[in-house]
Amino acid sequence: MMTAALAIQDYALLEDADCEARIAAAKAKLGDKVVILGHHYQRNEVFRHADFTGDSLKLSRQAAQSKAEYIVFCGVHFMAEVADILSRPEQVAILPDLAAGCSMADMADLAKVEQCWRELGEVLAVEDRVTPVTYINSAADLKGFCGRHGGIVCTSSNAASILEWSFTRREKVLFFPDQHLGRNTGYRMGIGLDEMVVWEPGKPLGGLTEEQIRSAKIILWQGFCSVHQIFRPEHIDQFLEKYPDARVISHPECSFEVCQKSHYIGSTEAILKIVRDAEPGSRWLVGTELNLVNRLREEMKPKGVDVHFMSPMVCMCSTMFRTDPQHLAWVLENLVEGNVVNRIQVPEETARYAKQALDRMLALG
Ligand code: 13P
Ligand code: SF4
Repeated sequence: MMTAALAIQDYALLEDADCEARIAAAKAKLGDKVVILGHHYQRNEVFRHADFTGDSLKLSRQAAQSKAEYIVFCGVHFMAEVADILSRPEQVAILPDLAAGCSMADMADLAKVEQCWRELGEVLAVEDRVTPVTYINSAADLKGFCGRHGGIVCTSSNAASILEWSFTRREKVLFFPDQHLGRNTGYRMGIGLDEMVVWEPGKPLGGLTEEQIRSAKIILWQGFCSVHQIFRPEHIDQFLEKYPDARVISHPECSFEVCQKSHYIGSTEAILKIVRDAEPGSRWLVGTELNLVNRLREEMKPKGVDVHFMSPMVCMCSTMFRTDPQHLAWVLENLVEGNVVNRIQVPEETARYAKQALDRMLALG
């Protein structure tokens, strides 16, 4: 039976401990009807309630396979959109706090990408020669754009195989929104820095010459992650000076200079796997979001593995942090009452094209 929706204002002042008990009770009542997906950057008080945790790729697969009526995504907006697109029409994707966006995803919008595509079309035959590739950290309509134009989605864990797929079809790639993931991946595949150019949205021809566009293999959108740009190569230098035997591992959203100085580069899931497999006595400098690193440090302490955060500054993803136990308790207790709040629903046509681009990615395994 449905009752009037419970108001978020009544949850805002609840103590975390109260929320903890209420979340557990609501989950128990909902049983198989709900699945909670939690990204690795979520704070502990939320993360511990997730049925499945993972990086963007793993969680997309979970969303696609889930049988639950309600998919509560403790992550950011584009992730809940992906859950909606990949799940069945009768399933409901929920984002506990609608303000949990991704500042990088916001750096590319459809109008600007379409303008870029048009301008590229004045220089070369885009539809025959350029594959648009969007990082999963992007709005659904950009994934739809890629679906419509023979393009594809990638995540931080499959970017190399997605670029390989793209180059077997067309000779160039337009990669958005994260220039760093595009550059770091392209370089590791043997593409020279001089073959990758940066498109500055808002400038005619992205600030490039026709010749630069004709000779580029990858056209990188000028987007970045505000969290990962905090990590600097000098942080690595200072750490290695103090601990020459330490290992450095970074997320590919970090700058080229940081990735070049890192021993390993990987998605959040890969970072966890590599550090969890590390030898006792080893020391690690990790360049990714603070909540993940803090949790990993605590987990590895008893195993004799010493984990450090790369930046001297405390920086977390403020939008991931928006999902708090109060919002999680609020959406779950509403579900118990038969109310759906904060549903994320991608318009049908956008979803259809976005699904094509996502399915191409998922089919690559
Ligand atoms: P992954 O978890 O896919 O590595 O991505 C990190 C990220 O920034 C998510 O927004
Ligand atoms: Fe977006 Fe960066 Fe936050 Fe990931 S860490 S959600 S890319 S702002």
